Amino acid sequence: MQTKVRIGVVGAGWPGQQHARAIRASTNAILQALAEPNDERAAEFRATYAPETTHADYSDLLGDADVDAVVICLPNHLHFPATLAALRAGKHVLCEKPPTMNGAEMRVLQEEAEKHGLVYYFSRQFRFTPGMRLARDLIAREQLGKIYFAEAVWVRSRGIPTGIGGWFTDKQRSGGGTLIDIGIHALDSAWYLMGTPRPVSVTASVFQNFKHLVRTPIFDVEDAAFAFIRFANDAVVQLKTSWAGNLTDEIPQGDVFGRELNNCTVYGDKATVRLKPLTLFSDVDGELVDQALEPQDNADSFELQMQNFVDTIRGVAAPVNSAKQAVYLMEMLDAIYLSSSSRREVPIAQV
Ligand SMILES: NC(=O)c1ccc[n+]([C@@H]2O[C@H](COP(=O)([O-])OP(=O)(O)OC[C@H]3O[C@@H](n4cnc5c(N)ncnc54)[C@H](O)[C@@H]3O)[C@@H](O)[C@H]2O)c1
Repeated sequence: MQTKVRIGVVGAGWPGQQHARAIRASTNAILQALAEPNDERAAEFRATYAPETTHADYSDLLGDADVDAVVICLPNHLHFPATLAALRAGKHVLCEKPPTMNGAEMRVLQEEAEKHGLVYYFSRQFRFTPGMRLARDLIAREQLGKIYFAEAVWVRSRGIPTGIGGWFTDKQRSGGGTLIDIGIHALDSAWYLMGTPRPVSVTASVFQNFKHLVRTPIFDVEDAAFAFIRFANDAVVQLKTSWAGNLTDEIPQGDVFGRELNNCTVYGDKATVRLKPLTLFSDVDGELVDQALEPQDNADSFELQMQNFVDTIRGVAAPVNSAKQAVYLMEMLDAIYLSSSSRREVPIAQV
């Protein structure tokens, strides 16, 4: 594709605005359209990002022949129907996390994207942060040696989101709580740095202890989740995530959600890398040497992600993620919930 990619943003909340900003920053993309039924949000978005057209519902935007690709920033339960409809309408898709509510839905989307020869991409801007890119480079240069373990953490002490109408805490509309909301980010960061090995089994427990902290009409999801995941290459991940918890003072105080830490540490037989603070712990002739690392640049993660999506559509770059990875990710989440409810280790089917 030689011309600019014309993109429609669906949903004008915080992520919709980040993607709009990133589209505007790209030299190969145009912010063609917005779909947003909330008039106030749509007006604010239009005033700031100036899309060419605005629609109330995503289905209207999908009928717009001037749109080549869509960025889906809807509540979680609409990711599957909106992505499916977009692919069937011939649009490339970048969908916010979680890709879907479960693995079965994601497998349908993988097939549909393949059938139509369209780009499917799930939003994971953290794969593009300066620290992640540096850690990924070190791993590509085999500085960690054989990776055998990673710790994935996103915990908050007081940070339960609600969203419009309280959908984040309503399982029917969210698919789950902290795990599917922020745990997925932490898990994907670790898994990406490990080279996205195939998951084989999970043991996990999820908890709901802090429902009383928010006044949403429905709260039937977990506010903490802890998991141990095995991969086909024998490496393992330990995941900790919480929207709320009585966290200790090892976790720094944040601006919005109480104490908060989003971090990842990957262990190899030659060295270990930790994202925050960004540090390499290497074995040098039998001695353990700590080295603080400085990222090479401070480029914006949403802008880099958008550029990779656009360049993938234009056929000039390889995508940093794929529908197949989205299937594995959702299967890991499914297995975490099943392991918790069944109180046993759960195998993940080999595909
Ligand atoms: N990548 C990240 O860091 C990040 C951060 C926050 C949220 N998210 C994800 O982004 C998605 C949206 O989250 P949010 O916080 O903006 O939620 P939100 O409830 O604040 O916003 C969702 C928007 O979708 C709009 N909408 C609903 N139905 C629509 C329809 N039929 N057509 C068009 N628009 C419609 C709503 O009016 C609303 O403005 C979620 O899946 C969430 O998990 C990702």
